[in-house]
Amino acid sequence: MTIDIQPSGQACGASVRGVDLRSLDDDTTAAIRSAWLEHKVLAFPDQSLSDDDLEAFTLRFGPFGDDPFFASIDGHPHIAAIRRTADETSSLFAENWHADWSFQEFPPDGTCLYSKVIPPVGGDTLYTNQQAALEAMPTDLRARIEGLRAVHSARGGYAPDGAYGDDDDGRSMQIRPSADAYATQIHPLIRTHPETGAETLYSTIGYIIGIDGMDDDEARELLGELYQWQIRDEFQYRHVWEPDMLVMWDNRCALHRATGGYEGHERLLHRTTIGFNAAVRAA
Ligand code: SIN
Repeated sequence: MTIDIQPSGQACGASVRGVDLRSLDDDTTAAIRSAWLEHKVLAFPDQSLSDDDLEAFTLRFGPFGDDPFFASIDGHPHIAAIRRTADETSSLFAENWHADWSFQEFPPDGTCLYSKVIPPVGGDTLYTNQQAALEAMPTDLRARIEGLRAVHSARGGYAPDGAYGDDDDGRSMQIRPSADAYATQIHPLIRTHPETGAETLYSTIGYIIGIDGMDDDEARELLGELYQWQIRDEFQYRHVWEPDMLVMWDNRCALHRATGGYEGHERLLHRTTIGFNAAVRAA
């Protein structure tokens, strides 16, 4: 089988055909990893995956990540259902740009999302290439963020008083808000990707609540300016879903966000997290 990789023509993203994700050998896994590092977001159309297959695929790229604040689906502790019913009126899940779980000490390398029910319109996922955003950044903005460390927290979303907190009625997704979300973690704003060696911006104000050692007002202004740069159109890729499609993305160098526009239709995807992989860092 020849693996066929077609770049999206946008700032990142590629679709991959000619491979059955249920039966990967080591060479094909290595080819997929290399394409993933190059394109940051890979979409595999026409894959017929059970939940066991999805877990097995994930484990080919690293350990499972630790998913706080989500309940898992029955019988699969590492799979969460990203679900929205046709008549749901709760706020859209994951609508703000973010890198998954960046508030952890060892944030996950990647995420896999497998589509089960896709609405006929809307529900695209947007990505933005943060290596490209850093490469193209004006020197004066870069000089202002160089060496800074950001304070990350899940509180805006997952604390009891957060966006998905205790008052968020009628959500079909099994989110579990917790006071643990108030914890903070510090990571540099500019990091070196552990596998490609490329410098990249890491995360954004979805989870970044301040800058270590900087006054809050000053930090908010700088982060707002940085955010406007991070999400510019020229760094983006719009992913349009089809049923039975697996997408994997690299949280170390890409941000993502969900979009709406499918009111009156159901949307359901199963998600796994590719955890922090110490082995690729030691290699
Ligand atoms: C996510 O961020 O995990 C979900 C993205 C989406 O629903 O499009």
